[in-house]
Amino acid sequence: MPPLDVEAILRGLSLQEKIALLSGVDNWHTKPIPRYGIPSIRVSDGPNGIRGTKMFNGSPAACLPCGTALAATWDTALIQRGGELQADEAVAKGVSVILGPTVNTQRSPLGGRGFESFSEDPVLSGAMAAATVAGIQSRGVSATIKHFVCNDQEHERMKQDSRVSQRALREIYALPFQIALRDAKPWALMTSYNRVNGVHASEDPYLLKEVLRGEWSFDGMVMSDWGGTYSTAEAIKAGLDLEMPGPSFMRGSLVNHAVACGKLHEDDIDACVRRILEFTDKLLPLGIPSNAPEQTVDTKETAALLRQVASASIVLLKNQNKVLPFAKEKSTCVIGPNAKIAAYSGGGSASLPPYYAVTPVDGIAAVSTGRVDHAVGCVADNKPALITNIIPQLSMAVYDAPPSNPARRKVDDMTIREANLYFYDYHPPLPSSHCGAWYIDFAGTLRPDATGEYLFSLSVAGTARLFVDGALVVDAATHQTPEGTFFGFGTGEIYGRVRLEKDKDYAVTVEWGSLATSPMQTHGAESMTGGGIRIGCARQLDVDEEIQRAVALARQADQVAVVAGLNADWESEGFDRGALGLPGAQNLLIRAVLAANHNTAVVLQSGTPVAMPWIAAAPAVLQAWYGGNETGRAIADVLFGDANPSAKLPLTFPARLEDTPAFLSFGAERGRTLYGEDVFVGYRFYEKAGRDVLFPFGHGLSYTEFAVDALCVDASEADDHLRVSLCVQNTGTRGGAYVAQVYVSQRQPSIARPVKELKGFGKVFLGPGERQTLTVPMSLKYATSFWDEQKKSWAMEKDTFDVFVGGSSADEKMLTSFFVVSETRWWNGL
Ligand code: BGC
Repeated sequence: MPPLDVEAILRGLSLQEKIALLSGVDNWHTKPIPRYGIPSIRVSDGPNGIRGTKMFNGSPAACLPCGTALAATWDTALIQRGGELQADEAVAKGVSVILGPTVNTQRSPLGGRGFESFSEDPVLSGAMAAATVAGIQSRGVSATIKHFVCNDQEHERMKQDSRVSQRALREIYALPFQIALRDAKPWALMTSYNRVNGVHASEDPYLLKEVLRGEWSFDGMVMSDWGGTYSTAEAIKAGLDLEMPGPSFMRGSLVNHAVACGKLHEDDIDACVRRILEFTDKLLPLGIPSNAPEQTVDTKETAALLRQVASASIVLLKNQNKVLPFAKEKSTCVIGPNAKIAAYSGGGSASLPPYYAVTPVDGIAAVSTGRVDHAVGCVADNKPALITNIIPQLSMAVYDAPPSNPARRKVDDMTIREANLYFYDYHPPLPSSHCGAWYIDFAGTLRPDATGEYLFSLSVAGTARLFVDGALVVDAATHQTPEGTFFGFGTGEIYGRVRLEKDKDYAVTVEWGSLATSPMQTHGAESMTGGGIRIGCARQLDVDEEIQRAVALARQADQVAVVAGLNADWESEGFDRGALGLPGAQNLLIRAVLAANHNTAVVLQSGTPVAMPWIAAAPAVLQAWYGGNETGRAIADVLFGDANPSAKLPLTFPARLEDTPAFLSFGAERGRTLYGEDVFVGYRFYEKAGRDVLFPFGHGLSYTEFAVDALCVDASEADDHLRVSLCVQNTGTRGGAYVAQVYVSQRQPSIARPVKELKGFGKVFLGPGERQTLTVPMSLKYATSFWDEQKKSWAMEKDTFDVFVGGSSADEKMLTSFFVVSETRWWNGL
């Protein structure tokens, strides 16, 4: 496709054509104008894989581990390769723009999208964002760093006001974006849903004009989050180029009106259109035509890279008595609610149907040469697992009217293999004259493998009723309570119980009505979605019986892995977690198994920290996150030592929720969220307040040992560099990797600063006995400065700065040195 002559096109476009370019045409495409060779550009989530054009019943994808897992690798080269992989997947699906990476900050471990973001530390987060962007854009595909800024909770995400000091905004929340811009120049940025200090980020001239385009010289395209454009003239004037999705809510004829009354000038529109055209022009060399077909590229190479990234992300938190690695020839018992499900991703827009997903039991069975047994022990959830675990496929018939109308017409049907469905981008083939609700009948046959009481559940955006053999079991139509599911439009779980006999066939049917039928008052962009439904079903387990069964198996085994944790029902876009604890009877189960067999490793899957009240009794613990398609194989690689763990925590694991910095101010009250902990986020708080934690930031063990020495620090104000080098030796008998974490601390700052702050890091792979020099290059001004609110600038003060280098923020054997800054300097920009 020939390049666009942006200025000539701008001169030729009519005002109406320009206005049309300012918003998407549908959920995932921009507006084409063929007469000028402007194609429709396809965008897709992001941030850990490419879903393509369908949120409902989409085509399968490669799924990388979640954001926190990627950051846990502390390996920018590997994460860059992950970015390349995403770009290749994108091109196959006709996608030119990836909606990721997510670069928000875990103020609290409870944030619903905490799993999507990288780290509580802005330098680690910025480095991971830059590596991802560099990987994606090296293939000519655009990354979109999101959500700018302070979108750190899901509670009231569209309307709440993140009240944050300028200092915390700059030093913690905006810094990852700043670093990514400095190091990798993303071509696009997505604004957040929320307000920041009173103004919605998507129409804030301070954030978008002054900071982003002014100080940081960002010359890419700015798009809104989906349904996150809330004004016409203000947003355009602030430089929000593209409203997504389409068709437009806030633009179209409203822009005409704003021009007519002089709230907008054509120049304001031209500025946005120019950036949209320049952005489009950058993507043309990809050669992706409008409406390109969606293809998948599920290759061996993809699987190998996904496995490598996933195993590099698993953190060995504890390993007393060298319980790990397990021996392959010994008998292994795999216990726990996450053992036989593949918790590959968190929920919300980051989730996608994977090509395949390996469960921990399958991963372990594939590696072990000894006997492998399994017991569930307990369920992770107070709500039953998806019904598709026991009825693998359901028929789905779509109608124009409810079942009570005998004249209703079937307009579509299909078979589905998922039971958590969001009809965001599915539009039934109804005539344009049809307005309002539409209906679906789901049906399947359930043949129980055990007699007992079965718990059915429905959570719905819309209305639904579930019947077994024609008898009503769950009524999710009459009484509904909003609970933030389905991106804020859905109810909590509504339950019903039935006793079922083993090996008998039961007809399960669900009658669903779209969002328009819901009796619930929801506020938001209702027209963006048809609604959704989650259908759950599981046999009711007797907790004591199941735990006893697991304990009996554990006693007989040589070694035991308890695979516990959370899943996409707990960690998701749309709502925050309510507690730090493991749900269900998992703590009881873990304690019982630990008492039964001392050769037990607890494997935790969660995107953010969970409490571990049994930690003293657990000899070995792995933090395995949500590991993508290869999650089960990666867990097996680390458990049996095929991969030597080298990951480090990108988040502090606190002992109690009450200890966390945002404990008193997480979640909105009366429309505002006070970022009261200021710059003391994560380890910056725990260290300053002298609070004990469960596992500190940067912690992670290995199956080998390392020795470090010969620290050298070279700082130059003239060249703006801080170069730290050290010698690392692998003193053990296995190959492994060491992560050198460089922390800097100002001796006598003029304002309160954290005890120390991460300013750079480097990872080195060493064979047994091998020794190497590792150099970590940094910018001196970034390594020393704080944000001076009075000067509205970064301040690098004349002072002595200590340097601490170690394998964790709490490393007892840190190498130390210092450097001196001779002159105070204020600076702005990148
Ligand atoms: C999310 C974005 C996402 C968009 C499109 C929104 O709900 O906040 O991160 O890119 O949906 O799926």
